[in-house]
Amino acid sequence: MESTKMERLTFDERLEALGPELKSLYMELYHDDEKAYSYFIDMLRRSYEARSEQLKVRDENRQQNPDWYKGCDLVGMLMYVDCYGGNLEGVRQKLDYLRDCHVNYLHLMPLLESPEGKSDGGYAVSDFRKVQPSLGTMEDLALLSRDCHQRGMVLCLDFVMNHTSEDHIWAKKAREGDISCQERYFFYDNWDIPNEYEKTVPQVFPTTAPGNFTWCEEAKKVVMTTFYPYQWDLNYANPVVFNDMTENMLFLCNQGVDVIRLDAVPYIWKELGTNCRNLPQVHTLVRLMRLSCEIVCPSCLLLGEVVMEPSKVVPYFGSVEKPECHLLYNVTTMATTWHTVATHDVKLLRHQLGQVFALPREYTFLNYLRCHDDIGWGLDYDFLKNFGSDEVAHKKFLNDFLTGKWAGSPSRGELYNDDPRLGDARLCGTTASLCGLESARKEGDQWKIDWAIRVDLMLHAYMFTLSGIPVLYSGDEIGQENDYTYHDNPLKAADSRYLHRGAMNWEAAERRLDPGSVEGRLFAGLREIEIVRTTHRVFNAGADVWLMDTWDDGVLAIGRYYEGEKLAAYFNFAEQEKWVRVDTPGEFYNLKTGEKIGDDSICLPPGGYIWLFAEFE
Ligand code: GLC
Repeated sequence: MESTKMERLTFDERLEALGPELKSLYMELYHDDEKAYSYFIDMLRRSYEARSEQLKVRDENRQQNPDWYKGCDLVGMLMYVDCYGGNLEGVRQKLDYLRDCHVNYLHLMPLLESPEGKSDGGYAVSDFRKVQPSLGTMEDLALLSRDCHQRGMVLCLDFVMNHTSEDHIWAKKAREGDISCQERYFFYDNWDIPNEYEKTVPQVFPTTAPGNFTWCEEAKKVVMTTFYPYQWDLNYANPVVFNDMTENMLFLCNQGVDVIRLDAVPYIWKELGTNCRNLPQVHTLVRLMRLSCEIVCPSCLLLGEVVMEPSKVVPYFGSVEKPECHLLYNVTTMATTWHTVATHDVKLLRHQLGQVFALPREYTFLNYLRCHDDIGWGLDYDFLKNFGSDEVAHKKFLNDFLTGKWAGSPSRGELYNDDPRLGDARLCGTTASLCGLESARKEGDQWKIDWAIRVDLMLHAYMFTLSGIPVLYSGDEIGQENDYTYHDNPLKAADSRYLHRGAMNWEAAERRLDPGSVEGRLFAGLREIEIVRTTHRVFNAGADVWLMDTWDDGVLAIGRYYEGEKLAAYFNFAEQEKWVRVDTPGEFYNLKTGEKIGDDSICLPPGGYIWLFAEFE
């Protein structure tokens, strides 16, 4: 009667089961600070007691099915509350549109209180218990989450944990000289230690916010600010910070948030003489947060924002026995995909996917083409070197191509944080504009429009072919283009990420049901992809996944097999049409049209794709 027992597991039983590990990790990190630990445990209990009965039922149900997020039935969308619905109530009113998009995982961009003009898009939180007034209230958030849950939707929210806004109450008190609040951050009397740090710590925003420290005039001290100067790094070596921030995280879980995105998590532990990224203590902290969730709110998942090379990303899953994050972004695959769009050559993508496919199936990735951030070119340059590519020159090519500077390139994007010292610019733009739709529409060239639509849909189909959770970027379902109006807004002009953070074009969205319009073609194409994925178990995360050889560097081919279902998927990244060879044509039919495959070769137009499907007894 294992499941009945699971069903009845209470806070105390979960604490008893997980407490020993929790305690030993905590004590090791915080030097046997019994007082801090006992406060921590009381805080966990407090948080559990504050959790609603409804959410506790959700916890029980998910405890019985802990792999609930690992199937293939989740389709995500990432959006800004103000861009989509004006405010939280507006988003709630527009949940039907998301149902039409087949979206059942909603990630709302940061919505907690954050000072206007010094908010980094909401990533500088001044109050972790208050919604930004222009977006609504905590009650609105709880109402939205309730409605989402009733519709079978999952809600994801950021937990901005590396730093607070300079206007957070702790920061305000620190500025006034309160030492215990200064101890929550990294304060220095002079630049000696900060200068030592600068020798080994790279810069996140070299152009828009150079350096990792800022002079605080009021306190007459230097404070650590890895991101923007108004985002003060929290000092997690202080257990008070960890206790209070974990309480803030659990508060969000208690509002009905199902997925907590751990923002900038690799940065949360600092050590002089290191690069202050991915230090071992970060993993201890993430494991402690995971245990806290498992004890207080086991239905909640942790999504780590680890925008790093693969060798740094995978450890955030933890081990199978001692897991850390439930979900991680498939970031290198994303960047490699755009590399492939620009080069029309799938060699690197095959190499990258080969590594992802070799990972344990327990590791669930969140797959995406675009998100609110820039695309950083963290590619495998050692591999590219084999083909004569030099890192700096290659980044320049990618940026030239995707900004449309390269002759004949249809893409339209903008550079982000161009660091001329390192030749290291990153890139911004919407999926549609990067796929060439914006330029093609401007030219009014139907052939180019058709091509751009094909590329756009092919990229989505390929993303939906991968195991994990596919997450769309709001507006992509109707091919929303870059928004250049941010150039005229002094609060945004310096940050080109606003290029792809435009308001949802509801007028264009009206055309989504018109099959002749661009919006209609993309919307229908995507729906088809979504329906196929969620109704065929071959897309399940438990499937075998492998790369198939196409003997052609323009065409990517992926195979999948799960419980008698087989998929052979082909994607033409080349600029020319390609013939692909199917080994056993008689087995397959075209998943979209239902047609039997008779021939052993199939022609794909540039940007074309095909999903072949076979079923076995
Ligand atoms: C994350 C966010 C990014 C933000 C940064 C600082 O990387 O995705 O938008 O600027 O954290 O909070």
